[in-house]
Amino acid sequence: MNPPNDRTSNSQKVLDSIIRAHLKEQAPYEAKSFNPDDISVDTKLRNLDGNENPFGPSPLVGKAIAASEELHLYPDHLQKEMRTALSGYTGVHSDNIIVGNGCDELIDLLIKIAIDPNDIVLEAVPTFGMYSFTTKSHGGQVVSVDRTETFDLDVPAILESSQKSKMIFLASPNNPTGNLLPWEHLKTILDLPILVVVDETYYEFSKITFAERLNEYPNLVVLRSFSKWAGLAGLRIGYGMMHSSLVEQLLRTKPPYSVSKPAEIAMLTSLKDKEYLLSNVDKILNEQIRMATLVRSLPRWKVWPSHGNFLLCEHREYTGRFLTEYLAKSGVFVRPFSHPRLQNSIRVSAALPEDTDALIELLSLLN
Ligand SMILES: Cc1ncc(COP(=O)(O)O)c(C=O)c1O
Repeated sequence: MNPPNDRTSNSQKVLDSIIRAHLKEQAPYEAKSFNPDDISVDTKLRNLDGNENPFGPSPLVGKAIAASEELHLYPDHLQKEMRTALSGYTGVHSDNIIVGNGCDELIDLLIKIAIDPNDIVLEAVPTFGMYSFTTKSHGGQVVSVDRTETFDLDVPAILESSQKSKMIFLASPNNPTGNLLPWEHLKTILDLPILVVVDETYYEFSKITFAERLNEYPNLVVLRSFSKWAGLAGLRIGYGMMHSSLVEQLLRTKPPYSVSKPAEIAMLTSLKDKEYLLSNVDKILNEQIRMATLVRSLPRWKVWPSHGNFLLCEHREYTGRFLTEYLAKSGVFVRPFSHPRLQNSIRVSAALPEDTDALIELLSLLN
């Protein structure tokens, strides 16, 4: 870059005055915690920090995309084929389904259609960071209600905070704590006059859903993803199930082609090969159980029970940041958190047996 002259410093001022003030102040989303460039080239990298699927997509996906003769065409903005296929998979009517560029896009769209500047969105922390990140980027206010000692919802505190809010996000299983949302808690919250978004991104691992409650509660939205169980995190496919009037509004607001043609092909192919993908889910769950047993057998570790493809592991002395850096130096990437309750915790994704073995070997060297 050249040193700034009058013209460039003036353009910088003009650009600064154009960008919305609240966005300039917003901290970026912390997606990856460690830079792989800092690691020596011969170290094997193990990505246990993104809850990605170590088996990848169905082998039929790459073949189907390569064989497509429609990559030069825009995808169907009304998503007819995908919504019909998802209706077969979920048992929910296609009028009540919408597909997005990852579950992240649906979180974004729901906030976009509901939240005026300064409207309140509730969340129960610790939880997935995109609910607050996206709310803030749309100029909304986030009210974060602390979970209890066992990471369950503090329902009375939520009811109290709900009075001025428009919507709440509840993940089940919750990321990063791994616990489920009990129906008794959800039922109480659904009686409030707010939009209740239940994020079931890890549904295929927990096998527990609230989708069958959609007919009873028009204010319920259930979100799901193909990133985890179907190994399509890189292609970005999520979907939401909700009242048909909400689907219509989201379809009107959504950029029409945000779900790409390759993503559409990948999703349809994954549903055709779901037995294979669900057998991988079983393997990942077995590995999650084995990893929990092994970490628990090490001194000073607590492992929270999890219904997802990840474990929240808490150490009695070391901070999550220290543990993350220590493991990353040997190529094992895990996720630390800034929430005060998770100061000494890391989230580790369940992957292949050799990944667990490498993790355990490193953790057992700590003293
Ligand atoms: C609870 C939760 N919701 C949503 C997402 C994002 O899903 P997608 O990859 O479909 O955008 C994640 C990803 O980690 C998640 O943990």
